[in-house]
This record gives sequence, C-alpha cells and structure tokens, in this order.
Amino acid sequence: MCGIFAYLNYNVSRERRYILEVLFNGLRRLEYRGYDSSGIALDADFPSCASSAPAPAYAGAPPLVFRQEGKIESLVRSVYSEVDEKDVNLDTAFNVHAAIAHTRWATHGVPAPRNSHPQSSGAGDEFLVVHNGIITNYEVLKETLIRHGFTFESDTDTEVIPKLAKFVFDKLHDEGDVTFSQVVMEVMRQLEGAYALIFKSPHYPNELIACKRGSTLILGVNELSGQNSGKPFQDVKALTTNGKPKELFFSSDLCAIVEHTKNYLAIEDNEIVHIKDGSVSILKFDHDKEKPASVQRALSVLEMEVEQIKKGSYDHFMQKEIHEQPHSLTTTMRGRLKDSGVLLGGLKEHIKTIRRSRRVVFIGCGTSYNAALAARPFMEELTGIPVTMEVASDLLDRQGPIYREDTAVFVSQSGETADTLLALDYALENGALCVGITNTVGSTLSRRTHCGVHINAGCEIGVASTKAYTSQIVAMAMLALAVGSDQISTQARREAIISGLSSLPSNASEVLKLDAEMKELASSLIDSESLLVFGRGYNYATALEGALKVKEVALMHSEGMLAGEMKHGPLALVDENLPIIVIATRDACFSKQQSVIQQLLSRKGRLIVMCSEGDASAVCPSGSCRVIEVPDVADCLQPVINIIPLQLLAYHLTVLRGFDVDQPRNLAKSVTTQ
Ligand code: F6R
Repeated sequence: MCGIFAYLNYNVSRERRYILEVLFNGLRRLEYRGYDSSGIALDADFPSCASSAPAPAYAGAPPLVFRQEGKIESLVRSVYSEVDEKDVNLDTAFNVHAAIAHTRWATHGVPAPRNSHPQSSGAGDEFLVVHNGIITNYEVLKETLIRHGFTFESDTDTEVIPKLAKFVFDKLHDEGDVTFSQVVMEVMRQLEGAYALIFKSPHYPNELIACKRGSTLILGVNELSGQNSGKPFQDVKALTTNGKPKELFFSSDLCAIVEHTKNYLAIEDNEIVHIKDGSVSILKFDHDKEKPASVQRALSVLEMEVEQIKKGSYDHFMQKEIHEQPHSLTTTMRGRLKDSGVLLGGLKEHIKTIRRSRRVVFIGCGTSYNAALAARPFMEELTGIPVTMEVASDLLDRQGPIYREDTAVFVSQSGETADTLLALDYALENGALCVGITNTVGSTLSRRTHCGVHINAGCEIGVASTKAYTSQIVAMAMLALAVGSDQISTQARREAIISGLSSLPSNASEVLKLDAEMKELASSLIDSESLLVFGRGYNYATALEGALKVKEVALMHSEGMLAGEMKHGPLALVDENLPIIVIATRDACFSKQQSVIQQLLSRKGRLIVMCSEGDASAVCPSGSCRVIEVPDVADCLQPVINIIPLQLLAYHLTVLRGFDVDQPRNLAKSVTTQ
C-alpha cells in the first residue's frame, strides 16, 4: 500500500542536494503505491563541517525529518522551502550517509504530516522508521509503551515501532553495548502483522537496517569502481569486506532501483539486512531462537530496462501501458507457443496433477478477477474440468469449501494483494494445488504457490490495470492449452487458438487505431452520470472490466452487466439519456446480443454497440446506434481485443473530465491490507 525507499552512499562523496534528489526520484517511482502523504529523513550537518569537505560519521545529532501531506511534488516543494528557511546547506557533502523515505496510502489515520512517515521514537528522533504493511497488535503495544511513559502523536499503527525500538535500546543499553541489529531483532520479536521496515538512528550513524515479514522489500547494490563496477555480483558475501565505494538502496519494488543498478536481492521473510561500513550482513530471525543465524544470499540481475518506468512520449502511464499491449502480449507469449502446443516451464511438473483435479477454482480481486472470468469459458472447454470463480475476500468471508482435489489458480498483477494472499494461505491449508499467475517476479504470490506462470507484461505503473489484464488472459489461455493438451477431440480447436494467439499482437495494434474515435466518443459522454456495459459469454468479463475502468479512473458510475439478465431488472433503467455499451462481436452468443440490441432500441436506449469489423448493419440495421468495429479474432480471445477500446474510452473520459489518470482518488496500486 505504501512505498518505502532508502539510499546509502559509502566511500563516495555525495552532496545533500544529490541525496535529496535520489530520495525524491525513488518516491516518484513508488508514488503509484500511495500518494496521500510522504516524508524523508537525512542527516544534519556535522557541526564544524566546511561545505566542500565530506563530513565524517558522528553519533547523536538528530536527523533532519520532513513530512508533508499530498503528493510527492508537495513534499519536494516544502523540503526546499524549509531548507531555505532553516539555512540548511544543500552543498554539504557526505562521504557516507544513510537516508530513508516513504510515500503513504493511509490505513490508520487521515493523511496529515503527523501521520506521515518516517515515524519517530519521540524527541531527538532517536529511531526513525518507514513502514509498508500493517501492525495488527499495535494497540496492545501502544498501551504497554504508554504505561512506560511514551506519548503518541500520530494515529498510525507504525508509531509503535520506533517507540518500541527506543524502549528496547534503552533497556539493552543499560546492560552494555547493543548493536542496531539486536535492537531490531527484539522489535521484530514483538510485532505481529505484515510489514517491510527500514530503520535509521543517530545512535548508529551511517547504518541502515531493513527487515520484512509479508510485504516485499528489495536491496539494490551499485558498486562504483573496481572489478565489479557495473557488473553483476555473485553474492552478498562479496560486499561484506571489500570496502569499495558503493551505493545501496532499499525499495518496496524494483521500479525505484532500476535507474541505479541491476544488482538486487529480494529480501525474504524474517531476514534482517544490516548495512554498516559499506558491508551488508543478513540475519535470519527465528522466534524460538535467541540468536539469529547469519545467511548468505546470491544477488539477482534485474531484467528490466529504465524505459519501462518512464512515460516516454506519453502523457500518462495508463496511456503508455494501453498502447504497449501489442508488445506486452508478445512478451507474455515469447518462447511459449509451439506449432501444436504451448510450453510453460513453471508448470511442467504439475500439469498431470492439474488434469486430475476435481475442479479448478480461479481466485483474484478486481481486474485480476475479471481476467480469470474471461478465462473461465475456455478453461472449461479445453480441459473439461469444472471451473468456479472466487473473489478472494468473499472466499475468505464465507470460508468457502476448498478441497485437496482442487487446483486453485491465483491471479494477481502485483502478487502482493492481501486478500489474494490470505486466500492462498487458506487454499494451502486445505491442501489444494496452488498455481500463481502474476506479473511480479519474486512476489509473495510467486514464492508461496506450488507453481505458476509469470505473465511478463513488464512493469505496470498506472494504478488502473490495463496491459496486465490482457496478458493475464493470454497466460491463462496458455495454461488451458497446456492442461488440455492430452485431449484428442479438441486438437483442431487448440491449433486454431494457438494461431489466434500468434496474431493477437497485430490485432491489438489494429484496434489501437480506434484511439481518436474513442476520444471523440468520450467527449460525447463527459457529462453522463452513468454508463452501462452489457456483455455475455466470453465477453461478460469485458463488460465488468470496461465498467471497472470507467468508474475507477473517470470517476463515473458504471456497471458491467450480464446481457442475459437485462430483462430481470436493468431494463427499467433504459431511457434516451443513459448511455449503454453492448458488446456484440461474433461468437455463439451473437444472435442473442442482436435481440438484446433490438429490445433496447425499442425502449429508445442510447446505444453504443461494439461489433466485429463489417457487422455494423447486422447489429444495428436502423443505423440509430453508435458502432465501434473491432478486428475479429478467435472467439475465446476476443475479450483481449474488445477491452482495448474500453480502456481507451476510460482513459480519454478521465482526461476530459479533468481527473488524475495514473493516481485515481482513494486508490493504490497494490492493496496490501485487507
Ligand atoms: C483495477 C485494479 C484493481 C486490481 C486489484 C487486484 O484497475 O487494478 O482492481 O486488479 O486490486 O490487484 P492485483 O492484480 O495486483 O492482485
């Protein structure tokens, strides 16, 4: 939900101005995760420091802490004006320096500077913490700390963490020397919930500690000179002794480090990563053991290009991501389509078990749920296995039945959605085979499932999911093809779908040419209060997803409906003002949709019909509807093409209505709380 970031330069001189910009840029990359307030902490000047000489480490001085409500740019403005007011020297250079930053999506407490992070232990900011996640036992901890004389200033769950650190530090310090990692370990022992944390403390100048349980956290390493400069590291061990100039980063995700380095480590649950004297040490925390074990981990090389996290020539990330779909669909399928079958390396050993399942249960939230719904018909058709659908939160609310004989397929762009992960825990407890479909390599979902498929759509930054949706459907089409590949009766159908998949990217390019038409349609709808979208069969999901896009970004009420249900209630809404989109592309439901259109027209409905190219007069012989013609593809893949004009419509509606496209009101990209 929130984004956390840290930057530590070691043995390389960096001016405060530079450090600030690294922090601000890190936050800009993470802003999609939360954008209602933000904050940073960095060091004050060494008392006798000449502005041009790098400052040495010193203990005890309170850091400079800035917190601000609103988007990152309002933090940037307020930091520069405060720095000016307080005469803080931006030219001061530090040879070694540790700084932390946070962008927030409020869970506990309204957006306000006092609820922004870094949260503090109190006067002197002896411990500062940035946090992504939720501390479930914070009330108990808070009561205990209040009894020990602590006073609380924020409404956040996070504030207990730095205060607990101070409490532990004071206690252990009385007994003798205490290291930063001892303090953090004791804090971890007391915390319940899901979290990624970064600690900074003037008691341990130029050190940083990060730890996690649940939420994702990445360490990035950039060595600036010598043999390893710019090259991949084999192991964290190589960093522990070499003393070379380097920059180290912590981040909630890879997007914020890709412009600095490609060497990274996905920190695992219960690991405590300690940066001290330019070295990285990793301890594995275990509740039952007094002393944590030291662990060695290999660094990975990031396969992401900086361009992926930049808007390029586009005005918004959502726009860029919509237009990227010919490419993202290609990368989803790359190396996986064979003449008469598909190859999914991540499933190899489990395909037979899936085939033997009593049923497949698709589980997800929001757009990911809709993608699974689009996949349901072909999954049933190609495998013969019954498929049931579960919204993750509803499965948990009902504690619905999941059996050992089930295959549970979890769909999530981020791989970090709390509801989906809790449903995953539930399915694992019940013994189901758990398959993950995610865009995020190293995510919790990809680590906790038995097997899965990465959709490889590339980093998705716009809060509204677009390219991930179409890639999820394609990944599930390949899953269905792989599971059903033992069925002789469907061989010809499978080959037709595989050929349809190969031509999807060029069809996606074709349908994107409707951009100007969708902008024009959007301008005719800007003042509407509501929009209905009717679909059925393969395109029921398209109706739900199109409506979700319109409501979440254009902030216009919109409902996706099953066309077969029209006569059972929604028809009462129809009049000449309410715009209704009917999806009537060619498939087995085409004639039923033709009659839906007739019934709506006879009630003077204001219709916009999406049909296959050349079908305009077949769907609307009277010529009284507005028609969107899209390329015809294999019926079960048509949802991939049909959603694209609706994504464009939602995008243009948002711009024309003057709302924030990439950061819609009240939403965050990864919903890591229940
Ligand atoms: C809508 C949207 C959300 C997400 C949902 C699940 O555009 O993005 O509905 O689809 O929050 O997120 P993931 O896919 O990351 O599990």
